[in-house]
Amino acid sequence: MNRRQFVAASGLGFAGTAAAQSTDLPPCAYIRTADVVYEPTPRGVVETMLDLARVGTGDVVYDLGCGDGRIVVAAARRGASGVGIEIDPHLVEWAQANVLAERVGERVKIWNQDLFLTDLSAASVIALYILPEMNRRLRPKLFRELKVGARVVANGFEVPGWKPDRVIDVPTRYLNAYLYTVKPEDKTAT
Ligand SMILES: C[S@@+](CC[C@H](N)C(=O)[O-])C[C@H]1O[C@@H](n2cnc3c(N)ncnc32)[C@H](O)[C@@H]1O
Repeated sequence: MNRRQFVAASGLGFAGTAAAQSTDLPPCAYIRTADVVYEPTPRGVVETMLDLARVGTGDVVYDLGCGDGRIVVAAARRGASGVGIEIDPHLVEWAQANVLAERVGERVKIWNQDLFLTDLSAASVIALYILPEMNRRLRPKLFRELKVGARVVANGFEVPGWKPDRVIDVPTRYLNAYLYTVKPEDKTAT
């Protein structure tokens, strides 16, 4: 069952805001091979990440490589808006279905894009659970496109060469979560 068939079969396409979305789903397509395989952040760690970045009403949270969309859905439950960026079209369909099922479609969009090519300038918070080398490659783009004061919360792997404001040892895991804030001096760094 594809995404449009899911929407039709679920009946969500006839329910208020979901009706608008069901006719408005952007197309999904193979772009290129993903840079990292899918592994979801455990739901408890999602909440830890959102706490760390103090996500709340008015925030715009981008998850770069959003998988099933759980981080942006959880952000929406806190009153934020969310944008999930995902290169794998099957995961895009899954995330979109979750957004509809959780009825947060008014505040959450899933975009089938390469995260390295996405314009990040509207984000107040960026969530990352990607490999250190990807974080390193992304850093100049984060400095260039994010506003001063924007937060970056990274699960598992730090952003090499960027000093975190806080590091949280996530219980029961061997991975940390890292919080960064874009500072004025970062705007001129590379
Ligand atoms: C480790 S998973 C994290 C999923 C989700 N953020 C979470 O924490 O539950 C990394 C995700 O990044 C996606 N991905 C890999 N390379 C990408 C790229 N260049 N652009 C967008 N997404 C990408 C993968 O398909 C995968 O879903």
